[in-house]
Amino acid sequence: MKILTIESSCDETAAAVVDDARNVLGQALASQIDTHRLYGGVVPEIASRAHIQAILPVVQQALSEAQLTLEELDAIAVVNEPGLAGSLLVGLAAAKALCVAANKPLIAINHLQAHIYACRVAFNDNPFPCIGLIVSGGHSSLYRCNGSIDFQPLGTTIDDAAGEAFDKVAAMLGLPYPGGPSIQKAAENGNPQAYDFPRPMLDDHDRMQFSFSGLKTAVRYKLAGVGKVDFKAMEISEQLRADIAASFQEAVVDCLVGKAVQALKKYHMNTLCVGGGVAANARFREKVMQASDKYRFKLFIAPPKLCTDNAVMGAIAIERYKAGLFADLDLDVSPGLVRDAKR
Ligand code: KG4
Ligand code: ZN
Repeated sequence: MKILTIESSCDETAAAVVDDARNVLGQALASQIDTHRLYGGVVPEIASRAHIQAILPVVQQALSEAQLTLEELDAIAVVNEPGLAGSLLVGLAAAKALCVAANKPLIAINHLQAHIYACRVAFNDNPFPCIGLIVSGGHSSLYRCNGSIDFQPLGTTIDDAAGEAFDKVAAMLGLPYPGGPSIQKAAENGNPQAYDFPRPMLDDHDRMQFSFSGLKTAVRYKLAGVGKVDFKAMEISEQLRADIAASFQEAVVDCLVGKAVQALKKYHMNTLCVGGGVAANARFREKVMQASDKYRFKLFIAPPKLCTDNAVMGAIAIERYKAGLFADLDLDVSPGLVRDAKR
């Protein structure tokens, strides 16, 4: 079985060809990061237009790397939820057109489930059942993953996503988009204990929720003075920038690792799978590995390139193909947060 997977939910246009043994036969990715950096974040209209330009060349590149034609595929899979509406629509329209042209079945991919499935692709070991932690630019959520396509939501962020907080704090510090890698770099020269930023929700072991907006405000007050909002990013000294980056990063990482451990305990699970762009963070990876040793749970965390958006994680379509879960050609995009991901 050979499936073409397409990803265009945010600012990366990606395609991959995978087989039923999860081998990646071909892959291509066109990143829009340089374009959006000029605006300090993803501009949805620009993202949609860039996807339109990139989508067919990226599909072509993945197919030619796999040395396959459309006719030789068994199905075409595409992310239709969640994400930016205009971005998702470009991938979906392309996938439908290719399905019609080559008379192939269509498979829908949930982007969040795919982030967890990246762990299944990266390791020759089945992580399910497990607790799934998804930490990206748009989502910070915990799931009970009963199987590769059976996800039960446990909780999510009540305000900002972790990646969004990284991006916004980076902007406050005058660091470039995307904020995660910029803060990680700045933090290398900083003291993570310099400022004792809050760890919201961490004391509440029952609620599987995150909150990062208060932490963001705490950083702003540290820079501007309590109750004030104005300061000049240009005037922040290098050491202050590094110390704030390191202390902020430490607080976010403590919340993510702490909540994941609480979820493992609460649901009596001993395996954790982590996915999403923030899972590429070096300090997070270090601390979640330490937690895995300390609390003796099995950890699956894909290499950084498979944590950020890509089409290889769309290999989850293999599982849907095997389960006979095909989509109709009137499939729509579903940009919002998926409350019940068991579909
Ligand atoms: O999963 P992803 O590539 O796209 C979404 O689905 O949102 O995640 C993007 C997010 C951005 O907020 C970015 O700043 C963050 O992941 N990110 C990181 C790192 N690399 C990317 N955050 C912290 N540390 C990193 N090294
Ligand atoms: Zn993502």
